[in-house]
Amino acid sequence: MAEQTFHDKIEQNVPLLVILIVLVVAVGGLVEIVPLFFQRSVTEPVAGLNPYTPLQLEGRDVYIREGCYSCHSQMVRPFRAETERYGHYSVAGEYVYDHPFQWGSKRTGPDLARVGGRYSDEWHYLHLIQPRDVVPESNMPGYPWLAERELNSTMTPKKMAALRTVGVPYTDEQIDAASKQTKGKTEMDALIAYLQVLGTAVKTR
Ligand code: HEC
Repeated sequence: MAEQTFHDKIEQNVPLLVILIVLVVAVGGLVEIVPLFFQRSVTEPVAGLNPYTPLQLEGRDVYIREGCYSCHSQMVRPFRAETERYGHYSVAGEYVYDHPFQWGSKRTGPDLARVGGRYSDEWHYLHLIQPRDVVPESNMPGYPWLAERELNSTMTPKKMAALRTVGVPYTDEQIDAASKQTKGKTEMDALIAYLQVLGTAVKTR
């Protein structure tokens, strides 16, 4: 048998091979990921981005609770087929107030990152009650109960205070006034307010 090279020795020593692979992958990951933490373009909000209003924030929680993300992504990729359909591709600075972000990985329905302003509130209302009333071929489920359920407005200031600890710049005044803005509103009102703001910080077309 020919003399063993260093390479042969590594390949025949599985624990050593595993350790070296982990090292190589770790270095590759660190080099790619760590600089992102320090780049302004991914850590600072894009111009025009505001933290969610109390009502939008409650709507976002309804979106998460109902699992809308299991059929809808919120990230327009930088490909022509996507930008022509949805508008400008998504940039990191649009998501700095999203905890957690709703990028999603499945598109049974269209991407929603830029749906804000595309339809009227009335359209969203009818669509969420019974999608087939406005889009006959739709296979999206209806969510009629959202129109009957009132928000728990006592939770809103607490949610905002929690988000402030992770960097969303809510002021004390905004937090104090939050319950007033969500009191008496339905989950449907909140969800529509949320959908209508999606993607509106970036000029899309
Ligand atoms: C089972 C998959 C599924 C789920 C869950 C789902 N959707 Fe959909 N959605 C679709 C499909 C398919 C369409 C395209 C047909 C239509 O417009 O109804 C759609 C369309 C939409 C549209 C119109 C988008 C556009 O650009 O025309 C909005 C807004 C929307 N969904 C919001 C929601 C919200 C909010 C939820 C959660 C409450 C939700 N969807 C849950 C499948 C789903």
